Amino acid sequence: MKSDAFVTSGLDMDRLPVHVAIIMDGNGRWAKKRLKNRVTGHEKGSRTVRTIVTACRELGIQYLTLYAFSTENWARPKSEVSALMRLLKKFLVSEQQDLMEKGICLQVLGQMEKLPEDVRKQALETIDATRNNHDMTLNLALSYGSRQEITDAVQAVAQKVAAGELAAEDICEKTVADHLYTSGMPDPDLLIRTSGEFRLSNFLLWQSAYAEIFVTHTLWPDFTREEFTEILTNYQKRDRRFGRVECNMPSDGSPQ
Ligand code: FPP
Repeated sequence: MKSDAFVTSGLDMDRLPVHVAIIMDGNGRWAKKRLKNRVTGHEKGSRTVRTIVTACRELGIQYLTLYAFSTENWARPKSEVSALMRLLKKFLVSEQQDLMEKGICLQVLGQMEKLPEDVRKQALETIDATRNNHDMTLNLALSYGSRQEITDAVQAVAQKVAAGELAAEDICEKTVADHLYTSGMPDPDLLIRTSGEFRLSNFLLWQSAYAEIFVTHTLWPDFTREEFTEILTNYQKRDRRFGRVECNMPSDGSPQ
């Protein structure tokens, strides 16, 4: 299901990122600029979520991870937290049918047990309903913190060592990766942050080791599929070396 609009937009459809991760930032500032309350910004931001999920599916991007609620976000005013939880539940209910039609599997990364009972129940239901969809995976990072994720992984690995199931000297990078919430998924190739902040904010710290990072000043509610396509075009021009040198470059750096 690849749309002609994207094919003609100058993108190389064979060199798209497999996994895109997005820090959706700027809902509050978007609302403030319009003299509206922050929740209005989150509501508009929810609509952008739908637009970008659809764009990824049409392009054939396999994994999309959205930072929807961090472990730190619990410290926001109670009314804002409740509104965000309400919006998340609404999204899960309203999008379930669409996720099924588009073959998208929903996953939640984070401390599901911290979510309010009704949101957790709905999330579990949508995860279950979409679990056999294989065209794309949508990860919602909810009550997510990367340090917590790594801490949980370390604890799980330590328990296996203590139980004699794993030798300490056999712990390698894959062992750690296999105990993260993203176990079995490829690392993000491209990490986008909206609203112009140059921070990772405790998002996918381990997994983003070699992600190409793109920061746009656009506030999340104003982010469009056209700008997303421009970022993908920019991504395709980048030289991803993963710490190595260019193939034809001699190690003393002299031109060949
Ligand atoms: C950051 O903007 C955004 C969030 C903390 C929440 C993101 C939530 C949504 C996009 C809507 C609900 C999500 C889904 C998946 C339906 P901010 O509030 O920190 O903005 P600011 O930095 O301008 O104040």
